[in-house]
Amino acid sequence: MSSRDHFTSRIGFILAAAGSAIGLGAIWKFPYMAGTNGGSVFILLFILCTIFIGLPILISEFMIGRRGQRDPINSFKEQAPGKPWYTVGWIGLIAAGLILSFYSVVGGWILSYLFRALTFSLTGKGLNFALLFNDLITNPWEAIFAQGTFMLLTLLIVQAGIKGGIEVASKWMMPLLFIFFILLFIRSITLDGAVEGIKFMFIPDWSYFNVDTLVLALGQAFFSLSLGVCAMITYASYLAKSEKIVNSAVNVAAMNIIISLLAGLVIFPAVFALDYSPEQGPGLVFIMIPAVFEQLPMGSILLIVFFILLLFATVTSSIALLEVVVAIGIGNKTQTRKKATWIFAIIIFVIGIPSALSFGLLSDLKILDKSIFDFVDYLTSGILLPIGALMISLFAGFHYSKKISREEMQSSPFIYWTWLIIVRFIAPIAILVILLNSVLG
Ligand code: PFF
Repeated sequence: MSSRDHFTSRIGFILAAAGSAIGLGAIWKFPYMAGTNGGSVFILLFILCTIFIGLPILISEFMIGRRGQRDPINSFKEQAPGKPWYTVGWIGLIAAGLILSFYSVVGGWILSYLFRALTFSLTGKGLNFALLFNDLITNPWEAIFAQGTFMLLTLLIVQAGIKGGIEVASKWMMPLLFIFFILLFIRSITLDGAVEGIKFMFIPDWSYFNVDTLVLALGQAFFSLSLGVCAMITYASYLAKSEKIVNSAVNVAAMNIIISLLAGLVIFPAVFALDYSPEQGPGLVFIMIPAVFEQLPMGSILLIVFFILLLFATVTSSIALLEVVVAIGIGNKTQTRKKATWIFAIIIFVIGIPSALSFGLLSDLKILDKSIFDFVDYLTSGILLPIGALMISLFAGFHYSKKISREEMQSSPFIYWTWLIIVRFIAPIAILVILLNSVLG
């Protein structure tokens, strides 16, 4: 493809940006983070962080990308010649690569589950879903093989280019996934004892209100909106000048919150009704989803469809991650795109292997008291994404003149000034305080 293709329609862009945002972050990570951090307080903080910090930064990324019309590094270089802003691009490259390294591990789990669903070995009375998940993640060969297969899939789609791959896939799969979640929610909420799950999600237990929860909620907001790694800058660089970025950003953020909450509303009522613990960690969704489907008529068939949809949601995010790495990595040398895609994919695969093994073979290896998988997650969501987001916020807030940013936003004065105050002061200060607390504390 030519690297300067444009999206054919606004809805195409929104769906592609939402496709990049909505993925494992909302469906896999959000429920387990909420589960291990007391539920309601984490959820509340996540929503607040999304609206008051994430959304304004998302608008900023759209603005920077659309104005630049090129890959992030060159975009920053051209918009701020001689200044070091382009380092944001390098942070993005490293963060996106690291995220993809463990994202592909979880993508691999989905492939393994899909395979099991297709062979009907995920259903049948008396299955212990927790044990089943454990068997899978502790088997080194399966974990690495599945991770590699997932990377290959991502790589092949990225090579096919923006229009062919991303747009078409997101257009169909996202709405279908949404319908599925509604169906699952109805089943989950009508189980006996489900109401405890709702209480867990919505009645605050303030003992969980502390800086750690705040760091995690902010990291979750950035991760799930794909912020701080220049992904949205990259996507918006394909956006025509005439599009309204505020509306697009609001849509993406809203869809992301809705899918996250829906995932929680499917998982937590079932957790309490079926007597599981909300604190299962990364396995939560993989354990609970088959358990909920077991309660449905034709569950084993529906489970197959569900994992296919989940795979698509995951792939629309993983392609964004690889796209960022490739776009930044090759800059304007677009003729090397194909080769670069392969090289980066292989490097990221290799970097991801320790994460894939960190539940089994390497489970004793700890960095800062965390497993390798958790450490890479913390390094990205807890440190790199906030730093990237901070710089992007300052760039849009201070580097652009008010005339430029107002023109770009095309919105009412109230919305414009609220945005400006947030990206100039509130977001940077909040991110800094939270970052310092997390690193020093
Ligand atoms: N937002 C994605 C998710 O929630 O699954 C993860 C992600 C994709 C992060 C792309 C960053 C990115 F550039």
